[in-house]
Amino acid sequence: MLRHSDQIHVAGEDVAINDQELSERAISVVADIVKRDPALIDCVSYGVRSRVSDMLKQSGVDFPPHSRNKINTDLPRSITSAAGEICSDLDLGGHLERVGIIGFHIASAMGLDTHVKNNVMLGGRLHDIGKLDPEMHRIVAFDGVPPPDQKPRIKLHPLIGARVAEYFRFPKNITDLVLNHHFRCDGTGYPIQNGAPMSIEIAALSVADAIDAMVRPRPGRTIKTLDQAFQAIQNGSGKHFHPDAVQALPRVAISAIYDRILT
Ligand SMILES: [Fe+2]
Ligand SMILES: [Fe+2]
Repeated sequence: MLRHSDQIHVAGEDVAINDQELSERAISVVADIVKRDPALIDCVSYGVRSRVSDMLKQSGVDFPPHSRNKINTDLPRSITSAAGEICSDLDLGGHLERVGIIGFHIASAMGLDTHVKNNVMLGGRLHDIGKLDPEMHRIVAFDGVPPPDQKPRIKLHPLIGARVAEYFRFPKNITDLVLNHHFRCDGTGYPIQNGAPMSIEIAALSVADAIDAMVRPRPGRTIKTLDQAFQAIQNGSGKHFHPDAVQALPRVAISAIYDRILT
């Protein structure tokens, strides 16, 4: 996980955050999630657990007796459920669930191993949790196009989200998926460009994320049909998107998946 004493700069942008602010904002997001299901306090890392519980006790939250002192198998669903409540105007809980499911099917069509497919599913269900941060939420939910000085700041959301996932004790390969989900096949993207090739998990996840972003309603965006979304992804092959994921897409019954998820 990134640990810098000074500013962490977002690639190509005049946007930065220092490590302490990143921690504070991630702790607030964790507290907002735990507030909706206090038993989740036992899933929070020891390093920040007392901070989170103190914050919540001050706002009158009662914690149940300890019962889940381990990574809880329901944790991803509890997080997407909290995201659905906190960002109901963005349908964020639905977006996280859909990207997890579609990403899993794309990874499957790419012939990837079960553990890789499961990583993509989990990474998809967590990838945008940084948008639970109030500033990120406000920018995304802006009715229209956010002011030019605000828009680049949304690029902090993978950093905040990765720190939230770390504080919920998800393993590093999963926090890295949250951190790198806007990484592009041509080496560009954000928040951090490290010159490493796009991982196969991000290849599947980024196509799933793009499809759902294009075909589902979002503030300030025109909705696309699935055919238009497929064409846009095809056009981005080798640039934004990994060719292996693009080539696998026709073998995924996306329309049937949407019919099943949305009914
Ligand atoms: Fe994102
Ligand atoms: Fe997303």
